[in-house]
Amino acid sequence: MMTTVALKFGRRMNTALRSSNLLYRSSSSFLLSANFLIQIPLTRKMSTDAHNIASQLNSSGLLRTQGLIGGKWQDAYDGKTIKVYNPSTGESIADVACMGGRETNDAISSAFDAFKSWSKTTAAERSKLLRKWYDLLMAHKEELAQLITLEQGKPLKESLGEINYSAGFIEFASEEAKRIYGDIIPAPQSDRRLFVLKQPVGVVGAITPWNFPLAMITRKVGPALACGCTVVIKPSELTPLTALAAAELSIQAGIPAGVVNVVMGNAPDIGDALIASPQIRKITFTGSTAVGKKLMAGSAETVKKVSLELGGNAPCIVFDDADLDVAVKGTLAAKFRNSGQTCVCANRILVQEGIYDKFANALLEAVQSMKVGDGFSEGVAQGPLINEAAVKKVDSLIHEATSKGAKVILGGKRHSLGSTFYEPTVITDVDNDMLISRQEAFGPVAPLLRFKTEEDAIRIANDTNAGLGSYVFTNSIQRSWRVAEALEYGLVGVNEGVISTEVAPFGGVKQSGLGREGSKYGMDEYLEIKYVCLGNMNKD
Ligand code: SIN
Repeated sequence: MMTTVALKFGRRMNTALRSSNLLYRSSSSFLLSANFLIQIPLTRKMSTDAHNIASQLNSSGLLRTQGLIGGKWQDAYDGKTIKVYNPSTGESIADVACMGGRETNDAISSAFDAFKSWSKTTAAERSKLLRKWYDLLMAHKEELAQLITLEQGKPLKESLGEINYSAGFIEFASEEAKRIYGDIIPAPQSDRRLFVLKQPVGVVGAITPWNFPLAMITRKVGPALACGCTVVIKPSELTPLTALAAAELSIQAGIPAGVVNVVMGNAPDIGDALIASPQIRKITFTGSTAVGKKLMAGSAETVKKVSLELGGNAPCIVFDDADLDVAVKGTLAAKFRNSGQTCVCANRILVQEGIYDKFANALLEAVQSMKVGDGFSEGVAQGPLINEAAVKKVDSLIHEATSKGAKVILGGKRHSLGSTFYEPTVITDVDNDMLISRQEAFGPVAPLLRFKTEEDAIRIANDTNAGLGSYVFTNSIQRSWRVAEALEYGLVGVNEGVISTEVAPFGGVKQSGLGREGSKYGMDEYLEIKYVCLGNMNKD
């Protein structure tokens, strides 16, 4: 059965497309394929570009709503679907297959079968296919960015940035595939030769979040494939369209059937199937600490390799000796990227007392100038939050903080745009015991804490179970070394608010996770080390 999908370009999207100086076309409603209907109200004209985008998405096969199992697009076995919403308008944009345990088990079997041949391909073959996939992701950059903004809400410019970032992981993996070296070890006995082989770990279960619908997939799947592993991806049910489009491009790149599989829908059932299967040898997860702990515990039964990228509570430390402009610009980026919805977003802004007032005013001014709106609108710097629960969490953290003495100097409430838009917020007089300092807000709120000395800053910053991203603003080279070494975090940005890149290791310490993604270190997560000893080597 084919799933029928009405992909609706609603009011806001049309406004956005109009605002980017696009031409109009008088078509009212048109059928793009047997299973995709782009509906445009009769009274409204549609931009040529919107038409082009829809046609392009369709003709390049990027509008997918079924899961991918063994190279075939599949509906859920019981025909169930779930809706995908545009967080900006609340409108439903697609119905996608709602899969569960049975589909997941079939996807695992396909990946297991495909592993037999994929793991035997040469590094050069895998490298070429990954490069092709990278080229296709870049060639379809605009369409993919549109999909991200549509289902996730982030400003189009940020979505375009995410495509570059995401494709970078595939490009890097295609290059690194050729550098998976083993070792030769000097043997302690003259008749022996010892060496180390690196081999793919096996079938990988990759569970990814909604905040980076593409990057969190390519960061896992790129290295997995480069190492010779096959994958079953479970994207977030909030943002599956981008994942499916990327999977379609993997097929177009020539990556064999069964190497990349995608199942989405009933998250607990899919997760349970991945965890229970002895054929899954590795779980890689980006998401909440609570779910990560469950996956880790569940993986113990079959002793799977696990990498986890979990919650953060990033401190952003601004010292008196910082360059004010650099500190404000860096904090703005570290805090408000993706409306505050990243695991490395600054969660607590620790400001030294000598610069506190100046910094608070300058930050307020910068935040005030950020335009909030639909991600497709020109000049928008902040889109909606992903859903109502996200809004409620931000709201309740702000209320708890103000009830204990914190002061809202900007924002602090829902935006007049309605839906899940929230005003970019700055609050002062926050202390480290308030919930807003203990929990990850995952929203556009900048809480300012005051500190006296470098030792105080380090103590406050490290007073958390999380340890992912952290930021320091100072003009002292000595202080930047000292503080970077003292921070109990996996990532430290010095005088820089956005430091993620495919060439550097990303990951946390303490309860922020295990393992690293990206860079040469990220490759090790998908490899087993095998020691081989050749004996009797002195014989002629
Ligand atoms: C995340 O929020 O999990 C990832 C952020 C990043 O890659 O910069």
